[in-house]
Amino acid sequence: MTHQRRQLKKNEVLFKQGDVGDCAYLVETGRILIYAVRDGDEFPLSILGEGEVFGEMALIDNEQRSASARALDACTLVVVNKQQLLDRIQAADTVVRLLMRVLLKRLRKQTEYILGKDLSTTAGEASQEREGKDVLERIMLENKIRDAFDAGEFVPYYQPIYNLGNSELVGCESLMRWIVPGQVQVGPNVFMDIIENSSMVIPFGRWVIERALSDLKFMLAQNSLKDDFFVSINVSGRQFYDPDFLLHLERERTRIGVPAQHIKLEVTERVMMEGAAPLQMMEQCFRHGYKLAIDDFGTGFSSLQYLATMPLHDLKIDRSFVSKIFKDDKSLTIVKSLIFLATHFRLNLIAEGIETPKEMQFLQSLGVQMGQGFLFSKAIPLDQFMKLPSGYKSAA
Ligand code: CMP
Ligand code: CA
Ligand code: CA
Repeated sequence: MTHQRRQLKKNEVLFKQGDVGDCAYLVETGRILIYAVRDGDEFPLSILGEGEVFGEMALIDNEQRSASARALDACTLVVVNKQQLLDRIQAADTVVRLLMRVLLKRLRKQTEYILGKDLSTTAGEASQEREGKDVLERIMLENKIRDAFDAGEFVPYYQPIYNLGNSELVGCESLMRWIVPGQVQVGPNVFMDIIENSSMVIPFGRWVIERALSDLKFMLAQNSLKDDFFVSINVSGRQFYDPDFLLHLERERTRIGVPAQHIKLEVTERVMMEGAAPLQMMEQCFRHGYKLAIDDFGTGFSSLQYLATMPLHDLKIDRSFVSKIFKDDKSLTIVKSLIFLATHFRLNLIAEGIETPKEMQFLQSLGVQMGQGFLFSKAIPLDQFMKLPSGYKSAA
C-alpha cells in the first residue's frame, strides 16, 4: 500500500479547531504547532516533531478538531486515514476502548477550559454510558472469576465420547464448570471469553491441563477402558501463543505419568488463522505424540487450507449442524460436506450435540465414527464418569 503524503509550507495552516476531521497525521519532517484560539488570540498547546502523531482525536470520538494545526517549518506529513485507525480501535479490548474515550474527554475538557467554551456535543452520550456500564460489569465479572478460581470453584467435568459403530466408550472431553456455592452451576459460555481475554488465560489454561492429566491417569487405571482412550482438552489461541505451552504440558505429563497418545488437544479453526506461532506449536505437539482435533468445525473461517497442511487427527462437527440435521436441508448439506472433507483427508469425525437415537444412527450411516451429546450423557464430575459402563446401551 502506498502511503499518502502531504507537504506543508512554513506557516501553512493544516486545519482549524472546529473543523470536521477525516484523517490523522504522522510528522515525517518539520515541526507542527498545535494551538487553541480564543478571541483571536492563539494559545500554543504543543509543538510536535518527527515521528509524532496528531489529528487522531476527532477520528476517535467523532467530534470537531479540538485544536488548530500549523506548520512551523516546511513539513512532510504521512496521512493516516480514518478507516485504518477505526479498524484498530474496533479490534481492541472493550476496556481499552472505554479508557481511550475517558482520556480523550478529559483532554478536550482541558482545552475547553483554556478556551472558556464548550466544544463537545452531547450526541452519543447515552450509548457511551451504556457501553461504560457493560465494561464495568465485565470488569466486575472478571474480578469474581479471579476470586472463584482462587477459591477452587472451578471444577472439570467430563462428557463421554462414544464410537457410534459399536457404542464403546472411546474418550471424553474436559469441560469446565463454575460451581458457585448455593447457586446453580455456570457454564463456560459465561466465563471462558472473559478468561481468554484476561491475564488469567495462561494460569487457568495450565490448571485445566493439570487437572485433565491427573484425572486421565485415574481413568486409565481402570482396566475396562480401551487402549486408545483419550481425554480431550480445549486449548485457546492465547495458550498456543505461550512459548512455554509445550514445555509445561510435557513437564506435567511426565510428572503425572500419562502417555501423550491419550491426550487430545481441541483447537478451533480461528486459532489456525491467527498466524504462524500457534500453527508451529500445534506441529510440535503433534511431533510429541499428542492428538489434535479441530473443534466446532464448519462454524468459523472458510479457509480450508489447514486441512491440507496441518497434521490433524479429528474434526468435530459443531452441534449447531447436528441439531438441525433433520430440520434444515442446508445443515444436512454442510454435514455431508464436512464428512466428505474428513474422509478425503483421512481424519476421524466426532459429532457433537447428539440428542436422539435417530440422529446417532443417521450420522453413523453417513460415516461419522464418534459422537457425544445428551443422548449419551451430559458432562459429569469425575466420580460419576468413573461409574460409566464401558459401552453405551440405548434405552430402547
Ligand atoms: P484532533 O482533535 O483531531 O485535531 C487537533 C489535534 O491536536 C488533536 O486531534 C490532537 O492530535 C492534538 N491535540 C489536541 N490537544 C492537544 C494537547 N493539549 N496537546 C497536544 N496535542 C493536542
Ligand atoms: Ca470443545
Ligand atoms: Ca465444540
